[in-house]
Amino acid sequence: MNIRRAVPDDAPAIAELECEIFSDPWGVKDIFSYISVTGSMCFVATSDEGELLSYLIGRVIAPEGEIYRLATRPEKRRRGIAYRLLDFAAKTSRGVGLECLFLEVRSKNIPARNLYRSYGFREMGERKNYYKDPTDDAIVMVRAHSADLI
Ligand SMILES: CC(C)(COP(=O)(O)OP(=O)(O)OC[C@H]1O[C@@H](n2cnc3c(N)ncnc32)[C@H](O)[C@@H]1OP(=O)(O)O)[C@@H](O)C(=O)NCCC(=O)NCCS
Repeated sequence: MNIRRAVPDDAPAIAELECEIFSDPWGVKDIFSYISVTGSMCFVATSDEGELLSYLIGRVIAPEGEIYRLATRPEKRRRGIAYRLLDFAAKTSRGVGLECLFLEVRSKNIPARNLYRSYGFREMGERKNYYKDPTDDAIVMVRAHSADLI
């Protein structure tokens, strides 16, 4: 497996996985913009054959970063891929001054909440009925780099 920064050419494959995984998939143009923007924090994990396994889309406006999307191909889950991608993104982004990472996650998304907790995120707030289709609360999570010391 390889983990690297995403490039604009990754956008179509990410968009294809978005359609497979999310009820509100992002299109190629939006993904392309996130990859290309200043402060982009977009990373991919690929197989040795180049197949997209997992991706993370976020942005750093130092000292804070935000993760907007993180997903692993359904048949490749529970192999530690998202965890490693998250770790790579967080550590690489220190070089641009990242000190803490924020994200929002559906309250009913137990796999994702467990993943983020296991990586040192803590739950700091809740936004009632934040998500639609289906309706759900958002849990706001944060991870400071000092979590590495735990
Ligand atoms: C959440 C998601 C990204 C996890 O990807 P993954 O590559 O399977 O995650 P990992 O294998 O790195 O899991 C790391 C840890 O997360 C937790 N976790 C992951 N999947 C889990 C599940 N189905 N149930 C419970 N805990 C889970 C576990 O603590 C796991 O460690 P363990 O396997 O040693 O117990 C994946 O399930 C996914 O793509 N879901 C759909 C998209 C999504 O909801 N994204 C997050 C919101 S943007």
